[in-house]
Amino acid sequence: MSHPLHYRHGELCLDDTRLADLVHAHGTPTYVYSGRYLQERYQAFAHALGPNTLLCYAVKANSNLHLLGLLARLGAGFDIVSGGELERVLRAGGDPRRIVFSGVGKSRAEIRRALEVGIFCLNVESAAELERVSAIAQELGVQAPVALRVNPDVDPGTHPYIATGLQESKFGIPIAEAETLYAQSWPHVQFIGIAAHIGSQLLDLAPIGEAARRLRSLYERLQAHGLPLRHLDLGGGVGIRYHNETPPTPADYAATLEEALASLPAQRVVELGRALVGNAGVLLTRVEYRKSNGSKEFCVVDAAMNDLLRPSLYGAWHDILPLQEPRAAGTPMDVVGPVCESGDFFARNRLLQAEAGDLLAILGAGAYGFAMSSQYNSRPRAAEVLVLGQENRLIRRRETLADLWAAEEDL
Ligand code: LLP
Repeated sequence: MSHPLHYRHGELCLDDTRLADLVHAHGTPTYVYSGRYLQERYQAFAHALGPNTLLCYAVKANSNLHLLGLLARLGAGFDIVSGGELERVLRAGGDPRRIVFSGVGKSRAEIRRALEVGIFCLNVESAAELERVSAIAQELGVQAPVALRVNPDVDPGTHPYIATGLQESKFGIPIAEAETLYAQSWPHVQFIGIAAHIGSQLLDLAPIGEAARRLRSLYERLQAHGLPLRHLDLGGGVGIRYHNETPPTPADYAATLEEALASLPAQRVVELGRALVGNAGVLLTRVEYRKSNGSKEFCVVDAAMNDLLRPSLYGAWHDILPLQEPRAAGTPMDVVGPVCESGDFFARNRLLQAEAGDLLAILGAGAYGFAMSSQYNSRPRAAEVLVLGQENRLIRRRETLADLWAAEEDL
């Protein structure tokens, strides 16, 4: 499974496509994804995890219909967190019976629609939500398939904004309380599993192994009490390489789950987002200006925090490569966007060779890139292009100025 980016004759290519050609066709800023890499990542995890695991793609990482369609055709399941994501998956041809629905704040309408289309499982995050699900199932005359999302209280060792499995987090139900809920009688609910998700961009799998062991022991206790559960959902969170990290491989991940769950007669579900799509994508941008404020060098590009928020929000590192192979190491500079905030940066003191007009690729932008983008500063959102083999296809047109105010007119 080779990384999609390489220089060929001094020009940066994504698989067989020269990125500069895509800039000529579609302008900047533009997201570009390798369909080949996404497929290979999906298949590598599916193969390592084996047929007893439902591999769900966490739609929040990148919800473009064409990527969802590609994954649906490979047989993927989907982890969704909103009614919008549900409709996207259905539009893309995803199978509702392979959808798990997570999230702490599901509305009545979202729960009703999920039950109507017959999703695989609702991952319920509170007693209040369980009551709501039960009431809606009664109205519809169905039994709602439910896993309680428990909070295993393990520290995933990741950025605090994306750690979700600690006792103080808003996510999940404490294990003791979940046990009480499972023991009660809910005539319109069918408990089919247990779910957890402890955090994202995990580079150490030990916390996932620990969470899996805690879920397993709960599963066994509940089974001993006669509750016929069928699956364990371990969430997502497998990290990727952004800089110089050594992320777990699909085989490492599968081995961690196997070690914790071996011989447990339960189906497994996982919800991977970043690990599948993160390194499939880049964000292409053009240098507008170089400037210096005496002590500091700046490279002002035409992409901004509204296009890719991760550096601003998490201080995340993203590698940056010029589309023309550099001949020298470069000088330290801040790579910043046009948005009126000092937090609008992609890199600080980065060694780069970049002059006005040059084109740059910001790496690791496939997950939580476009999906978290906005129109802040009235900037139309970027275009998206899918490269698959020799073909490359626009999979989302650049927004127009009219798109900026479309919802404010004709009221
Ligand atoms: N399942 C649940 C319940 C989740 O909350 C998440 C991510 C996932 C699965 C997928 O996690 P993954 O496999 O992609 O790590 N915007 C942040 C990441 C937020 C993750 C939120 N939940 C970032 O850019 O790093």
